[in-house]
This record gives sequence, structure tokens and C-alpha cells, in this order.
Amino acid sequence: MRILIIGGTKFIGPHVVRLLLEEGHELTLFHRGKTSINLSESIQHIYGDRNELDQHSNTLQKIKADVVLDMIPYSKKDAETVLKIFSGFAGRVVAISSADVYKAYEVLHRIKDGPVQETPLKETDELRSALYPYRGKIEEDFARDYEKILVEKTILNDISLPGTVLRLPMVYGPNDPQRRMFEYIQKMKDERPFILLDEQLAHWKTSMGYVENVASAIAMTVLKKDTASHALNIGEKEPLSMLERVKKIGKVMSWRGQVILIPNENLQNKIPFNTHQDFVLDTTKIRERFNYKEAISRDEGIKRTVQWELDNLPNETPFDYSQEDKVIQTLNLENEHH
Ligand SMILES: NC(=O)c1ccc[n+]([C@@H]2O[C@H](COP(=O)([O-])OP(=O)(O)OC[C@H]3O[C@@H](n4cnc5c(N)ncnc54)[C@H](OP(=O)(O)O)[C@@H]3O)[C@@H](O)[C@H]2O)c1
Repeated sequence: MRILIIGGTKFIGPHVVRLLLEEGHELTLFHRGKTSINLSESIQHIYGDRNELDQHSNTLQKIKADVVLDMIPYSKKDAETVLKIFSGFAGRVVAISSADVYKAYEVLHRIKDGPVQETPLKETDELRSALYPYRGKIEEDFARDYEKILVEKTILNDISLPGTVLRLPMVYGPNDPQRRMFEYIQKMKDERPFILLDEQLAHWKTSMGYVENVASAIAMTVLKKDTASHALNIGEKEPLSMLERVKKIGKVMSWRGQVILIPNENLQNKIPFNTHQDFVLDTTKIRERFNYKEAISRDEGIKRTVQWELDNLPNETPFDYSQEDKVIQTLNLENEHH
């Protein structure tokens, strides 16, 4: 197959590229060239900014891609431009979306008042009513017009080009720019005897996905000759609570300390979101439709993430443990008095 990828060189993308190359497909990547990928000489690169994608229309249309995989559609305009360029010049489009489209996200982040949404979230569940969740909250350029709901609607409502949107969970693994497990790994590496966890956060559940497994779900979707336009959730089959996750990291690192659950008021950093709202995705559809299964076990995924973090830790720990030590002392004193 001829596959054009918009993006593809940073975190999740390289694993998708590797899997597609292993299956012998012909790949062209469109990106700015700020990040690079050294997987194969056979990959074609077109350098440019996606904000000016239409300036590359002729070159992109000549590829006659069977599938366009858009790794980075953030705005309605991004999706409209893809449709304008590729309708009649490509077979299908697969667009990467996010679980932040669900109404549960605005309850979780207290963007709007509302009842806690039932989980696991199915593809047909209600979407957010407030648009532009990051506008004014994140400084980066993309945040102003970021709206995956509008990306999805634009792609799915278009009849000229079949489209699939994939709703990603929180993705972790080597090269994760958000370093979601860093805090715990650093503290365990520092041989802290205890890790303090907000007792409400400890029981909060969210779907996550190990990067290589998420990439394989993306590659699988690209390769299926699926002409229906629809959305699919991606994520772990059985998400863990935060406490279970931290304990798993501890096991992988042979950490001998203890996780201590403490009430929110005793912690310096308050949890800003509503921990009553779990954020768990129902992934039955992709599992049944495409027979999707994780190739890498959770333990192995955590192990690879831990190894990468250990190889990339800062020279000095960024945590000041004196505050935590004080909290523990107070808790010990309180226990002695009881
Ligand atoms: N990580 C998560 O937890 C998570 C959760 C939910 C959804 N997602 C979704 O996952 C996608 C991103 O994943 P990723 O970063 O791992 O993807 P990736 O495809 O590996 O990396 C991003 C790519 O975009 C290119 N790029 C960035 N800005 C560009 C621009 N203005 N014009 C052209 N190319 C540009 C980068 O290359 P250059 O730097 O060379 O331009 C790079 O190839 C997004 O759609 C995001 O919303 C992620």
C-alpha cells in the first residue's frame, strides 16, 4: 500500500512507521523536519508546515496514497484542508483523535458542572458541550484552535473520502514528551522509603496505552480495508487505578518502599481535577472489529518505560523531599496520639 503520514517522527509515529515498514508498505512522511526518523532509507520525506499544507497539494496528490494517516490534526481547518487536498486523490483517511472528546472529560476537568458520567466510555457516548478545552490554558500555538470534536465531525461527515478517527488514551512509553511516570520512577530511584499519594487520586482510574500497543492499533486501522466512517477507542483492556499503577512501577523497579495514602488537605499539591470521574474507555469495538490485541504486556511496557526514564533522569533529583518528610512525621505523630 502507498501510505502518506502527516507527522510520524516524534513519539507514537515512529512505532507506526516501523510496523508499516515491516509489512512492506511504501511510506511518505510530511513534516517540518524538526524531528527526524532513521528507520529506513526507503521512506520519502516531504518537508513543510501543515498550516500551509495546501501549498504542497500537487506533490501530495501525486502520491495517490491508498491511505492518509493524519497523526496531528488539531483544528477544524486541519481536517478541512486534508479533505480538500485528498478527496479524489486518496482512498481513505485515518485521523488521530483523543479521549478528550467525551463529556466525561469536561466533568473530570471541571470545565462544566455535570453529573459524573458512567464508564467505560463507548464510542457512542455523549461528547463535550464546551469547545476548545485548552484555549487560554496552554500557551502553545496549537491550543487556541485545538478541538478534536470538530476534527472528528469534519472527517466523519464528509462523504467524498471515507474516514476513521481513533480516540487515543493517555499514551506512555520511551520518549514520552509528557513523561507521565517520571515522578514515581525518580522517587523510587532515589530510594524514597515512601511515596505519598492523594487518597482520592489513588482510587481514580484512567485508560492508558503503552506506545507500541497504541501504534499497533493505529497501523492495524490503516491497513484494514474499512470503508465505513466511524470512531474507535484505543486503550488498555483493563485499566488500573493510580495506586495499582504506582505499585506496578515499584515492582518493576524492585522498590522496597511503601505507598502511603493521605487525605488531600495534607498534600502540598492539590489534585486539580474531579477524581470521582473515572476516565476509562470501552475498547470492545476495536478488539472485536479488528481482532486487536496488545502485543506488549503491561508489565513489559512499564519495564521499557522505566528503563528509558532511568537512562534519561536529570543529574539531580528535581524534588525537595523535606516537605514530604514533614507530612510523614505529622502522620506518625497523629498515629502515636491515637
Ligand atoms: N500522547 C498522548 O498521551 C496523546 C493522547 C491523546 C491523543 N494524542 C494525539 O497523538 C498525536 C500526536 O502524537 P505524537 O506526537 O506521538 O505523533 P508523532 O506523529 O510521532 O509526532 C508529531 C509529528 O508531527 C510533526 N509536526 C508537528 N508540528 C507540525 C507542523 N506544524 N507541520 C508539519 N508537521 C508537524 C512532527 O515532525 P516535525 O517536528 O519534523 O515537524 C512529528 O513528525 C496528536 O494527534 C495528539 O492529539 C496523544
